[in-house]
Amino acid sequence: MKAVADAPSKVIITGEHFVVHGAWALAAAVPRRVRVELSDAPSLSVSSDRFEATSPKLAPVAKVVKEMGREFSVSSSVKVSIASEVPQGAGLGSSAATMVAVASAFSRLRSLGLRVDELVRLSMAGEREVHGKPSGIDPTICAYGGVVLFKPGLKPMKVKLAGPRTILVSYSGIDRATKSQIRRVSRRKKRFPGLFTRLAEGISELSVDAARRLAGGDMEGLGRLLVIDHAVLDSTVVSNETLDSIVNLMTSLGGYGAKLTGAGGGGSVLGVAPEAKEKRIVSALSARGFETFAARIPTEGVKSWVER
Ligand code: PMV
Repeated sequence: MKAVADAPSKVIITGEHFVVHGAWALAAAVPRRVRVELSDAPSLSVSSDRFEATSPKLAPVAKVVKEMGREFSVSSSVKVSIASEVPQGAGLGSSAATMVAVASAFSRLRSLGLRVDELVRLSMAGEREVHGKPSGIDPTICAYGGVVLFKPGLKPMKVKLAGPRTILVSYSGIDRATKSQIRRVSRRKKRFPGLFTRLAEGISELSVDAARRLAGGDMEGLGRLLVIDHAVLDSTVVSNETLDSIVNLMTSLGGYGAKLTGAGGGGSVLGVAPEAKEKRIVSALSARGFETFAARIPTEGVKSWVER
């Protein structure tokens, strides 16, 4: 018998970085998924289609399993196999999707019957190893799915869309390091505390407005907010020339607006565009070597089942 779990990846639509300092952020699950299989074994082992079995990148996965074993007093001797469609280092939540899927599959294998919020809490043990002091937005959206307004310490608010929407996602090909980017922004906060607080308040308000516009289908209004958010992120030194050039391409090719998504310094850009322009933007960016796709949202969160 094996337990299988499948979790979506994610984009942060607005509010990254400031969410670490208490602002509202808006995130959506996107349908590039991670699949995890767990079965009983003589000892704990982790393998992945992305890394060598000895890679330190797999240690946080083992940590989630061990901590769950300890907390629920059950055996953590399992074989974990990970298969991912999510580019790693792209700011699309590949680690969060993996941790959430592992927590969900372990819960299923050991019949723990854990709730979604518990899966998020348990996956944070691995996320902290990877990212230092993350806000928790990544595992939250991968676990809940759909679209969520998130603020640290509060219950995530599901955003109900009046219809399906498309978000364009383009990966710069540059690996980003969330831990150092978070530190960089924190240094800015220390240097300009008053200004930083007001920027965080502004971005918090922007995220709530972005949720309203996305829900109602005002993609043009959402695009304008993305442009403002990108400028603020740029001013907190998390963008770079490649991300800026993708943002500019998305808008110059007829998009409503675009911004970096996730920690920045690399990773991906997201944008929204009139339906008639979406294909053109995806092929133009792909032709320039950036892995680009149109993500239909909403998409469902983590799910798990047993296979015999
Ligand atoms: O690791 P990423 O690229 O998905 O970025 C996470 C978003 C941050 O706000 C930068 C960090 C966090 O934990 O909220």
